[in-house]
Amino acid sequence: VRAGLLTAGAALLTGCGSQQLLSIGDMSSAYNREIFWMSVWAIAFSIIIFIGVSYALFYTVRKFREDRPGHDAAPAQFHGNNRLEVILVVVPVLIVVLLSVLTVRSMARLNPTPQNATSINVLARQFWWNFTYPTATAAAGGVVSNGNELVMPTRNPVALTITSGDVMHAFWAPNLGGQRNATPGTEKTWQIDTNRPGVYQGNCSLLCGASHANMRYKVVALEPERYNSFLAAAQAYRAPTPAEGSAEARGYTIFMQGKPSTGALACAACHRVQGTPANGAAGPDLSFFGTRRTLGAGMWEGERAEEMLIPWLANSPGVKPGSLMPPYNGATYRVNGQVQKGGVLTEQELSDVAAYIRSLRLPEEANYWRDVP
Ligand code: CUA
Repeated sequence: VRAGLLTAGAALLTGCGSQQLLSIGDMSSAYNREIFWMSVWAIAFSIIIFIGVSYALFYTVRKFREDRPGHDAAPAQFHGNNRLEVILVVVPVLIVVLLSVLTVRSMARLNPTPQNATSINVLARQFWWNFTYPTATAAAGGVVSNGNELVMPTRNPVALTITSGDVMHAFWAPNLGGQRNATPGTEKTWQIDTNRPGVYQGNCSLLCGASHANMRYKVVALEPERYNSFLAAAQAYRAPTPAEGSAEARGYTIFMQGKPSTGALACAACHRVQGTPANGAAGPDLSFFGTRRTLGAGMWEGERAEEMLIPWLANSPGVKPGSLMPPYNGATYRVNGQVQKGGVLTEQELSDVAAYIRSLRLPEEANYWRDVP
């Protein structure tokens, strides 16, 4: 735990290497700029009021102290001061009115989703995210969706439609805008934006269960041209059929059919892979799994994610508390509070499945991690 804290602390201080420091003060986002200037106004008035009240306090204490020269035991006797009372009511009212006007103006700027916004749908589940691009429709060549890695354009507002498939969660990528609840049964809209390409950290910001803290995502913001080429290629993407006899082909068979003789469920029952019969919706979309850099909803990334893939497939709930993916090493897991035994795949079979899902890659021109250090 201590090592984890130190790592997290170091990551915060260094801004996670190439990545942006988690900050609501990131001025690349119009949302954050709006909030920043609202705060400046509110803080400025607070400072003015603080100085005024402090001055009045010290002035009174000093001027009417008991040992002042010419002090008379009985103070002046009078009731009220109309002018002072009017000032004390009018000034705060004016401040509140001004702050309200500024607030309403900010809300008007941020709330109605601009016509030119890019639409992206967000689905939150225990404990992962799915990001779907509604402009890429089946008619246009295929629904595009990606698990736990959100690709968005820069210099253009992104209109999110956020919902949850189970309990309440909240979407929050602090550098890109404020947070919004993901509530089952309702769709909430939200807007994020940035004018700086890069990788941003997102988190679930509403306590939602055992792996709330492990419910993260990456936002990769690309220049609009690169974003468009990502979306076009993603839309045209069809997962290739692996060459017969290869590890990928063996993995493909297990992915699609499971291994009924040992109780191993098919991955396709819960996961979707674009261009294949796999169309499950209970788990994150794996269409571009090989392009992704993170594993387990941001629990691991880069080389660590590579190393963790087999342990993850072997016993997902064992490495991520509350994960609903069944273990494939025969370990027990809980479904709706009941203990069940997972199916069994051999080491070889697990590695074949890993080979198959690693082969699911976007073409290089659409690889959103390209050029990201
Ligand atoms: Cu989902 Cu916290």
